[in-house]
Amino acid sequence: MICFPFLRRKGPSLSGHTVEIDEEVSSIQNTKLYTYKELRVATQDFNPANKVGEGGFGSVYKGILKDGTVAAIKVLSAESRQGVKEFLTEINVIAEIEHENLVKLIGCCVEGKHRILLYGYLENNSLAQTLLGGSHSSIQFSWRARCGICIGVAQGLAFLHEEVQPHIVHRDIKASNILLNRYLKPKISDFGLAKLFPTNMTHISTRVAGTAGYLAPEYALRGQLTRKADVYSFGVLLLEIVCGRCNTNRRLPPEDRYLLERVWKLHEAGELVTIVDSSLNGDFDAREATKYLKIGLLCTQDMPKLRPSMSTVVKMLTGEIDMNEEKISRPGLLSEFMGVKVDLGKTDTKDSTYTVSSGNADNMSSSSGDMTTSYATMTFNSIYDRN
Ligand SMILES: Nc1ncnc2c1ncn2[C@@H]1O[C@H](COP(=O)(O)OP(=O)(O)OP(=O)(O)O)[C@@H](O)[C@H]1O
Ligand SMILES: [Mg+2]
Repeated sequence: MICFPFLRRKGPSLSGHTVEIDEEVSSIQNTKLYTYKELRVATQDFNPANKVGEGGFGSVYKGILKDGTVAAIKVLSAESRQGVKEFLTEINVIAEIEHENLVKLIGCCVEGKHRILLYGYLENNSLAQTLLGGSHSSIQFSWRARCGICIGVAQGLAFLHEEVQPHIVHRDIKASNILLNRYLKPKISDFGLAKLFPTNMTHISTRVAGTAGYLAPEYALRGQLTRKADVYSFGVLLLEIVCGRCNTNRRLPPEDRYLLERVWKLHEAGELVTIVDSSLNGDFDAREATKYLKIGLLCTQDMPKLRPSMSTVVKMLTGEIDMNEEKISRPGLLSEFMGVKVDLGKTDTKDSTYTVSSGNADNMSSSSGDMTTSYATMTFNSIYDRN
């Protein structure tokens, strides 16, 4: 039974139970509400065998709904006990956003303390687990497939940045938030989620700040959140896709550990093509791959205003805009500001905490335009390395 604490009128009868729905809640039309019982059935009582992953927001289960739809069921962590109305208001905003490169929200459950989101299930998991997951995946990513993924992600992000009103800054573009359908078409997940959590929660500040390795320095250090912070993260992701490796790999010698630094050095040396994923066995268009790497560098330039907008990135990737003459300035490297580059021993575990900057956390919850500046206290679980 769905039971809201602020009852005003009785709603329709569902499965023999009387469902009482507040008028304001019932006016939220885009989101299909599921009962906790329905989700227990769908996931065989949240059987660990059906768990497909776990992130900062909670656990994700694969479930089969009554009508046969396969869903990814994200059980938000206990701290996300937002009021029903606030929760549904945010959910409703997310549910309205539809694009072929965005994961579709198909419904939610708000019952008692439960806050659960249902998304369309993507068969091929995330880029983190497939392309960057080493030997665990049998998928071969051809050069063409990689181009399609880069363009699709750029289109999805351009849509969030430039077409959705008000604009949405994703804040956590990274390989694990890029899911792939059976045709390897990419879909961005977790957009809008940061707003579901109170801003003053310490572990959520990790969410607010995004993920180590993808963080634009101005956002990490000064809390300046604009669309250009997403562009930076996209640039890092683009390099990962072309090179077939994570942005940080501590097993490599110090000079090779940080992908962005490495790519920048190779760019300066005129040897970019040497870092393209060797698993392609040379089966790629060298000019195009070099261009993609340069676009990644354009996106990660230190000065946010020099980074292109996502719609420009799409045009560069597709060849609609020629970017070969673009001057690329040096990338923003968080390591240089943190002074931890040479001593990663202290920051290499998931549990190590590194407080970066402080300011007015109240301003953090919304930001859309490039001129918007907001500040937050940001505490990271490991600045650099989750790989
Ligand atoms: N719609 C989906 N279809 C299929 N698998 C999914 C879906 N959503 C999430 N997953 C799987 O669940 C895992 C956990 O997702 P979740 O978003 O909770 O965490 P994450 O993205 O890995 O990390 P973080 O919380 O830091 O963003 C993903 O890596 C992915 O493997
Ligand atoms: Mg995610």
